[in-house]
Amino acid sequence: MNILLTGGAGYIGSHTVIALSEAGHTPVIYDNFCNSNKSVVERLEKIIGKPVAMVEGDIRDTPLLTKTLQNHEINAVIHFAGLKAVGESSIIPLEYYSSNVYGTLCLLEAMNQARVKNLVFSSSATVYGDPQYLPLDEQHPLSATNPYGRTKLHIEEILKDLKASDSEWNVLCLRYFNPVGAHVSGLIGEDPNGVPNNLLPFIAQVAAGKLAKLKIFGNDYSTPDGTGVRDYIHVMDLAEGHLAALSYLEGLSDWTAINLGTGQGYSVLEMIKAYEMASRIEIPFEFTLRRPGDIAACYASVEKAKSDLGWVAKRGLEDICVSSYKWQTYRSSIA
Ligand code: NAD
Ligand code: UFG
Repeated sequence: MNILLTGGAGYIGSHTVIALSEAGHTPVIYDNFCNSNKSVVERLEKIIGKPVAMVEGDIRDTPLLTKTLQNHEINAVIHFAGLKAVGESSIIPLEYYSSNVYGTLCLLEAMNQARVKNLVFSSSATVYGDPQYLPLDEQHPLSATNPYGRTKLHIEEILKDLKASDSEWNVLCLRYFNPVGAHVSGLIGEDPNGVPNNLLPFIAQVAAGKLAKLKIFGNDYSTPDGTGVRDYIHVMDLAEGHLAALSYLEGLSDWTAINLGTGQGYSVLEMIKAYEMASRIEIPFEFTLRRPGDIAACYASVEKAKSDLGWVAKRGLEDICVSSYKWQTYRSSIA
């Protein structure tokens, strides 16, 4: 199949390009590069061993998107594009609503015009808000604690209404837990601007000597060691989840949301230890106050992914940390 990946040059999109290509699909990247680098396309071509089609554009440019869908004879779209920084979303909420919500409306309009009605959407575990129970299954009540999360909730609702109005649409929302790690080649990976907000990229930069010390946000949570617990999923497992999603999409009778996680939670201290083992570098840290808005623990029920998609995450903490460190080393060498 010919698959359009909006935001395909980004962290999760670029890894999905590899998984799609290896499975015999033809991926087409559509990205405005507001949070990625054009050189990722060359690096992807090196990994895959063949050219990767790329269109530079914004998802709010409906005519360009329509033309792209038609020119590349696209069968399905995976919609990654959007802004994703939780803290920033409270500072510039309108940009988040514009890029994420309005951008999705423009994409849907273009897909309607091009008569492409198969869509996989990148949602997030953030739509569950503060967990009322664990593991989080897809029936858990939904809420948002910040504008970013609210954009994901709005988009899920929009897609639900769309499916209800026109059964020709096949729509699947994938709720990602915490994507981490990098492709085994070490040529692509997460490349945050400035000081990383997320745990793994922060630890990676401490290991590389770019940052002095990790600050652990709280050691008084009701978790086994007092630090926050999350469901860290290897980005290549996540990428392969999209392959399973595309197969499942055809003829889907209802709007559907499925968690993509591992079902296993790890604490901050456990992640540090795993990273130290993988990199053989000590990660200095200190405890500080809890980060506002953080929750104690969050991990997925993976039953629906297993039963409906026939997909489970295969890679463990060692693969995550080794690949992350390999990417960080390469990234530092080209900086
Ligand atoms: P990313 O920022 O690395 O990738 C997003 C890509 O979209 C970037 O290449 C960016 O340039 C592009 N983009 C942004 N706005 C655009 C626009 N208006 N038009 C065209 N391109 C645009 O992010 P990611 O980590 O790969 O996340 C991909 C998706 O998964 C996002 O929708 C994000 O909200 C969702 N998600 C990510 C995480 C995570 O922790 N990484 C967790 C849950 C959900
Ligand atoms: N943490 C630290 N120090 C840091 C960074 C993080 O102690 O410098 C801790 C956090 O307090 C938390 C854990 O590490 O306990 C994980 O934090 P991340 O920022 O890596 O991830 P979050 O679970 O807070 O959030 C991420 C994305 C959200 C998404 C959510 C669920 O940033 O967008 O996963 O998918 F919604």
